[in-house]
Amino acid sequence: MTVRLGKNSLLLQRTLSPEEYTRYEQLIEERRSHGYYQRLVIDDAAGKRLETPGTHPCVGVLATLDRYGFPCDLRGRSVLDIGCNAGFYSFIAKLRGARSVLGLDHQPHYVDQGLLMKEILGLDVELRQGDQDSLPPDARYDVVLNTGVVYHLQNPMEFLTKVARLTGELMYLESEMLTDPKYSEYAWFIEGKYGEDPSNWWIYGPLCLERMARAAGFRRVEFQGFVWKPRRGTRTPEGFLRQGPGAFLCWK
Ligand SMILES: C[S@@+](CC[C@H](N)C(=O)[O-])C[C@H]1O[C@@H](n2cnc3c(N)ncnc32)[C@H](O)[C@@H]1O
Repeated sequence: MTVRLGKNSLLLQRTLSPEEYTRYEQLIEERRSHGYYQRLVIDDAAGKRLETPGTHPCVGVLATLDRYGFPCDLRGRSVLDIGCNAGFYSFIAKLRGARSVLGLDHQPHYVDQGLLMKEILGLDVELRQGDQDSLPPDARYDVVLNTGVVYHLQNPMEFLTKVARLTGELMYLESEMLTDPKYSEYAWFIEGKYGEDPSNWWIYGPLCLERMARAAGFRRVEFQGFVWKPRRGTRTPEGFLRQGPGAFLCWK
């Protein structure tokens, strides 16, 4: 493998030449105009660092997700990473032994960022523009990674139903969730912004999303817990009570 997962970064097993390093720095910079979400940190064998300026601390979050059910052993599996962004979880799937990995994102600029990361890392994953509708109806993936997407959709049941059809074995589902147990059975539709992001449409109580995943076609759905919870009373810039991400394992 050309890369290892380090404590704080992806560790390239070779040293980048000064020319390569400068070129990659420039290419990362050129892709900044649409904004980065994932912060990928790549250290080469000489300790030189390349870093995308996203807000999502990928490697740091992975250690936490692992404690909440993120698949650690993907040996021999085919993996679909839906909403792959700059490809971090696709790369992790490959490093964890996946036979094949397809990362799909409907935003071309994120795919472009991902393709650059793929080139730097030299990992054999396929990243392309697309969504749940761009795959043939008989396409099946042993494992689907579905992180940070369902709260960005206006029609989550339609999406989950299509993704359930694409899943052969297991889906790892992560979403922004309502943290107050009083609202576990409910979902909140946001018209406007939450966390300064107008693409946040729904936030689900754990029991609500568990039921949705079952109705979408998963036989067994288990809430793994809140990945983290905000301090009590923390508010978004809009004045809403800040909620927190939670994770599920969904079996076909
Ligand atoms: C909050 S980011 C999460 C990215 C990544 N999965 C993660 O957890 O770091 C949501 C991503 O999903 C993509 N996305 C949203 N809906 C999608 C869909 N229906 N099909 C493919 N990509 C989608 C967005 O373009 C964005 O890159």
